[in-house]
Amino acid sequence: MSSRARLFVHLILALASGPASSVPNASAPGIYNSSTTPSNLPWNTYNYCNAPHVNAKHYSKPNQDAKAELVFLNVMMRHHKRTPDNLYPNENELNPTAGWDCTNFLQFNYGGGGAQVYHNTLTPPTHPFRSQMWNGTCDEGQLTAGGLQDAIAHGKDFWELYHGTLGFLNQVDESEIHIRTSTEDRTMQVASGMLFGMDPASAQRSWPVYTQPSTIDSLVPSYSCPQADAVRAAYQSVPAWTDHLSQNAGLKARLDATLGTAGLADWASWYDHFFDTFSSRTCNGHTLPCNSTGACVSEADAAQVFAIGDFEYNYIWNTAENATEYNQLTFGVMFSELAQNFISFSAGHETHRLRLYVGHDGSLIRLASGLGFGQQSSLRWPALGSEVVMEVWKLKGEFYVRVLHEGTVVEGMSWVPISVFVDKLQAQVPADIFQRCMQVSA
Ligand SMILES: *[C@@H]1O[C@H](CO)[C@@H](O)[C@H](O)[C@H]1NC(C)=O
Ligand SMILES: *[C@@H]1O[C@H](CO)[C@@H](O)[C@H](O)[C@H]1NC(C)=O
Ligand SMILES: *[C@@H]1O[C@H](CO)[C@@H](O)[C@H](O)[C@H]1NC(C)=O
Ligand SMILES: *[C@@H]1O[C@H](CO)[C@@H](O)[C@H](O)[C@H]1NC(C)=O
Ligand SMILES: *[C@@H]1O[C@H](CO)[C@@H](O)[C@H](O)[C@H]1NC(C)=O
Repeated sequence: MSSRARLFVHLILALASGPASSVPNASAPGIYNSSTTPSNLPWNTYNYCNAPHVNAKHYSKPNQDAKAELVFLNVMMRHHKRTPDNLYPNENELNPTAGWDCTNFLQFNYGGGGAQVYHNTLTPPTHPFRSQMWNGTCDEGQLTAGGLQDAIAHGKDFWELYHGTLGFLNQVDESEIHIRTSTEDRTMQVASGMLFGMDPASAQRSWPVYTQPSTIDSLVPSYSCPQADAVRAAYQSVPAWTDHLSQNAGLKARLDATLGTAGLADWASWYDHFFDTFSSRTCNGHTLPCNSTGACVSEADAAQVFAIGDFEYNYIWNTAENATEYNQLTFGVMFSELAQNFISFSAGHETHRLRLYVGHDGSLIRLASGLGFGQQSSLRWPALGSEVVMEVWKLKGEFYVRVLHEGTVVEGMSWVPISVFVDKLQAQVPADIFQRCMQVSA
C-alpha cells in the first residue's frame, strides 16, 4: 500500500473509532520497518526503528550571541533496536522457519581478568518447550546486529558534531565522558556502539559504565513504588482509558485469533505487547507474524496498533488525570540525579564534559513528560535510539541550558538559565519520595 493509501486508512480508522477524547492520533506519520528514513521524507520524521538524533548537518548554535560557549552536556537516550521483548504463547509457530539469526552479533559477558567469553543462544531440537520460542540464535529482547550498527552511526554523528564541528569534546576518554546504563546487556552494548562510533580505537580497550542495583535503578526505572502503581491503576480504570479498549474490540479479536493471545491479561490490558512484537519484527527486516495456516497480521491492523501505542504512552505518562503524579513518583529519583548534575556543574565540581545515560523507552517517556514536552504536542512512544540532549552554554559568566529532542531544539527550551532548569527538574521530585511510594493511600 502507498503511504498515501495508508494515511487514508489511518484516517478512516480514526474517524470510525469514536469521540476525540480517546481516539489515537492515527494520522501521525511514522516509519516502523526500517532504520533508514526514506530520503523523500524530512530528516526528522518520526522513525520508531531509529529516532532522529543530533547531527552536524541539521544543527545550529544558539542565536543568542556568537560568544556563547558550550561547556557541559547531559544526554539521555533509549537503546537501539532489538528482538521482541514479549513472546506469544506459541511463539515458534509465528516466525519464519529459519527464525531469528544472531550469529552476526557476539554477546560478551566475562569476568575481568578471565577469558573473553561470549555466549551463543541455541535451542536443542529436542527441547520440550521449544514451541514457546522462535527458532534460531537470538534471545528475547536482545540487541541485534542492526541495533549495534545504529548505535555506531549514532555515536559517529554525535562525535562529528560535538568534537568535529563544535570542538567541545576532545577525546573519547572516561576523564571527559561518564556513562550510566541500566543493568540490561542491550544498554551496555549500545554504550559500546556509541563509543565505537565516536572513536573506533575504543574497541581496543575496556571502558567502565556505571549502573545502579537492578532492584532500585532509577533509570529504567525499576525501584518499587506501590503508590505509583495504585495511581496508575486508577486512571487506567476510567473511560478515558477503557473506551479505547472497547472501541478497538474488533481489532483485538482479529489479533487474538491469529496470534493465540485470547484470554491473556497482559495482552488485553493494553497494546504494548502487540506493538513490541510487531515493531521489533518489522524494524529488523522480518514480516509481521503469520500463523501456521498462513494467516498474517495485516499492515492496516499493525498501523492501528502503532497509533494506539502512541495514544497509550501519551495517556499514561502525559495526559491522564494524575499522570504527573505517577511520572514524578516513578522518575523522581532520576530527576533528582539530573538536577544534581547541573548543580554540581554550576558549583564547579564537575570533571566530565559529557554525562551519557543509555536507558529504555520508560526512561525517555518520563523525561519527555517531566520536562514538559507533552504540553506542546502529544508524546509518541519513544523510538529506538530516542534522545534528549541537555546542553549547557556559558555567556558572560552565566550558564544557560538548551534542550534538543530527537535532534531538534525544544520550543521554549532554547535558552533557559541553569537555575531555572534546575528548578524545573527539582519540581519533578516529590518530597519524601520513598515514604510517598511506600504508603499506599486507599
Ligand atoms: C496528530 O498528528 C498530526 C500529525 O503529526 C499533528 O499535526 C496533530 O497535531 C496531532 N493531533 C493531536 C490531537 O495530537
Ligand atoms: C515499509 O512500509 C512502507 C509502507 O507500507 C512501504 O512502502 C515500504 O516499502 C516498506 N519498507 C521496507 C524496507 O519494507
Ligand atoms: C523451526 O521450528 C519448526 C517448528 O517447531 C520446526 O518444524 C522446524 O524444523 C524448525 N526449523 C529449523 C531450521 O530448525
Ligand atoms: C486522581 O487523584 C485524585 C486524588 O487522589 C482522585 O480523587 C482521582 O479519582 C484520581 N483520578 C483518576 C482518574 O484516577
Ligand atoms: C490463524 O489465523 C487465522 C486468522 O485469524 C485463524 O482463523 C486461525 O484459527 C489461526 N490458526 C491458528 C493455528 O492459530
